[in-house]
Amino acid sequence: MTPEQLLDPVPVASSRRAFCATACALLAGTALHGRTQTPVAPEKPPDPQPLKLTEVTRDEMKPGKVLDYRKLGAFYLAADDRGIFALTAICTHRGCLVLSEGPSGFGCPCHDSAYNFQGEVTEGPAKLPLRHLEVKAVGSRDLLQVDVSSTVPPEVRL
Ligand code: FES
Repeated sequence: MTPEQLLDPVPVASSRRAFCATACALLAGTALHGRTQTPVAPEKPPDPQPLKLTEVTRDEMKPGKVLDYRKLGAFYLAADDRGIFALTAICTHRGCLVLSEGPSGFGCPCHDSAYNFQGEVTEGPAKLPLRHLEVKAVGSRDLLQVDVSSTVPPEVRL
């Protein structure tokens, strides 16, 4: 480049066009990039009161029964031939609340994952089973209490 060329001003129209082209390309790239990002659910803080006392007694839980405690603490209380157990209602795929389908198990309305009555995955995209929670019978009435912060092996029953 000669010194004269360096002193020549860049035509305004050309400069404006170049600026617009660059700005448009950047905006389009940002929009496309934003669209391809997978939304990430904000991390929830741990429940400050993880012990959830239900109004149901130990004797009231019979095999095949499932009670919905999604509002109390995002869990289900259930019983099978081996005893009483609790499952988190939080889908292991992306955290939606699963719905009870009675003795046949649980289904997730978000991406159609399915779990059997014991919380094992029967249909993806979820890959992990529902977490089993600790259940205790407390007080003189044997009311069932679930610790939603706990994780117990899936074979544990009360
Ligand atoms: S969040 Fe349940 S299947 Fe995706």
